[in-house]
Amino acid sequence: MTPDQLRTLVRTIPDHPKPGILFRDVTTLLLHAEGFAAAIDHLADSVSGRPDLVAGMEARGFVVATALALKLGAGLLLIRKDGKLPGATIAEDYALEYGTDRLTMHVDACAPGATVLLADDLLATGGTALAAARLVRRAGAQVTGARFLIDLPDLGGATRLEAADIHTHSLLSYA
Ligand code: PRP
Ligand code: ADE
Repeated sequence: MTPDQLRTLVRTIPDHPKPGILFRDVTTLLLHAEGFAAAIDHLADSVSGRPDLVAGMEARGFVVATALALKLGAGLLLIRKDGKLPGATIAEDYALEYGTDRLTMHVDACAPGATVLLADDLLATGGTALAAARLVRRAGAQVTGARFLIDLPDLGGATRLEAADIHTHSLLSYA
């Protein structure tokens, strides 16, 4: 399936979770077996080489990161919201399009020098991905790029990621 066909599988819900937010809902794309597989294939095709790890940000990022890690033959790094991981963690706070939050990572999750590709369903302000990148870099690992199903370019995330030396690619753009 082409990106234009995949776009028809994403549902838009106005005023969720707050008035004025146009929520781009990927659950409808994930329900479509052929569409889900094609979306992951497109993202995997945009990656050169094989990272040691694909990092997914809780919760929707887990879906994309898991599928991409399996496709690329990489390990899976789970970056979770505060209070969920059982071992010793490091944490980073960040701002969202509709609030603030904290991401954590096991302190021993990635070896110094490991290569890590970030993956999530959607890029908005870039706050989530930048917080994840700070965690990975604090561990001494290298962020090799970031992949998203959806980019909302008006919110500036891709520009912020590129300014932090994180090469970014998204399957669909909603301007
Ligand atoms: C959403 C989305 C990204 C993030 C993008 O997650 O899945 O992780 O927002 O926004 P940003 O680029 O402005 O940081 P959310 O925090 O809503 O959590 P969820 O995956 O648990 O729904
Ligand atoms: N995460 C942040 N902004 C979003 C949006 N507009 N739609 C879906 N997920 C989001």
